[in-house]
Parts: sequence; C-alpha cells; structure tokens
Amino acid sequence: MEVSVLLPAAGLGERLGRGPKAFVRVGGRTLLDWALETFSFADEVLVALPPGYRMEDRGRVRYLEGGPTRQESVARLLEEASAPMVLVHDVARPFASRDLALRVLEKARAFGAAVPVLPVPDTLVEAVGEEYGPALPRERLRLVQTPQGFFTALLREAHAYARKKGFQATDDAQLVRALGYPVALVEGEARAFKLTYPQDLALAEALVWSG
Ligand code: C5P
Repeated sequence: MEVSVLLPAAGLGERLGRGPKAFVRVGGRTLLDWALETFSFADEVLVALPPGYRMEDRGRVRYLEGGPTRQESVARLLEEASAPMVLVHDVARPFASRDLALRVLEKARAFGAAVPVLPVPDTLVEAVGEEYGPALPRERLRLVQTPQGFFTALLREAHAYARKKGFQATDDAQLVRALGYPVALVEGEARAFKLTYPQDLALAEALVWSG
C-alpha cells in the first residue's frame, strides 16, 4: 500500500448553510462522491463524518467519526492510516484534479511535505478596526489549497507536537512547519477553489455544466 487519502468532512458547513458539506450536491453528486472519484487511484480512503452521521465502509473506503475541529478530525484519520504517504484533502474542493493530487504526491515523496498554492490576484491589506491598514506584499503571499501530501510518520509527529503545544491551525502544512520541517510548494489550480459561501455553489454548478 502506498498512499492513504484522508478526507476531513466532519464540518457542519455553517457558512454554506446547506448542512454538512460532504453531502451537499454539485452537478447531481455529493462533494464526498466527487472526492472519492478524484482519489480512485488510492489504496485507502479514510473519511471523517460529522458526529452522529454513519456510512457503511465500502472496500477501500472507511468512515470514522470526526472531531470538534478540522485538526482533530485529521488526527483521528491519521491514527488509522496504514500507508507510508498521506494526502489530506478538504471535500469542499470538488474540482481539484487527479493530476494535481499526483503532482503533490510526487513532490511529497521527494521532500516529505508538499502543498499546492496559487498567487494572490487581489490587493491585500490589514484591516485596522474599520480602516484601511498597511498593505501586505502580495508578490510574496500565496493561497494555500489541498490536497496536501506528507510522509505519514512526519504528519503524525506534527499533530502530536501541535497537541502537546495546544497549537491549532487551519491546515496540516502549518503543523509540519511548527515542528521545524520544510514544506515544498507545488503550483495549484484555480479549479481547486473551496466552496465556502452560497454563491460558490452557483459557480460550481456553472463549471460542471460548462464542462
Ligand atoms: O471550515 P472549513 O471550510 O475550514 O473546513 C475545512 C474542512 O475540514 C471541511 O472539509 C470540513 O468538513 C472539515 N472539518 C472537519 N471537522 C471539523 C471541522 C471541519 O473534518 N470539526
């Protein structure tokens, strides 16, 4: 077995307002189904569902109960991973391609940890109260996507370290950095955008039907 895919899908999808994102439909299929198809090459797929939700394990796909935070959901999935490499992917990014997943995996295999990123198109500033604050150097900044790839042992150590320090992050690469290990960058994809707000769903439907 070479790679375990971890799908933290235990969020309640409150900003989207359609219930847990894993079961939101785009193009007639749930976000979970989109992810399962993208990762059909993987030997093992572990999915964290919201508390109280249950699904039957099917072949290489196994379902667990997630935790109160994304980080805790991933930690629970990691305990069960049996391959030496893991890819962690948010189901909220249904159009991340298989090609992207394979490029991330290849880089992670060589480097220990790799994530897809995109340049930032907009001007970025700090908000100081209600006022326009200092501008941030957008040339140096990147938007971080998933899937993110890691040596399983490295990500386990990073999660254990974060738990010990009480450190919470919104993605897994931050935990690896906090442990003191470098994370390689891979060119991301515009289509791997994250469905967060209701208007993102309309965009997603349009993308499905335009091919
Ligand atoms: O809230 P956010 O969009 O950052 O969540 C990113 C991913 O983490 C989603 O796929 C969500 O289902 C998952 N998540 C989780 N467990 C939680 C909270 C979020 O698996 N407790």
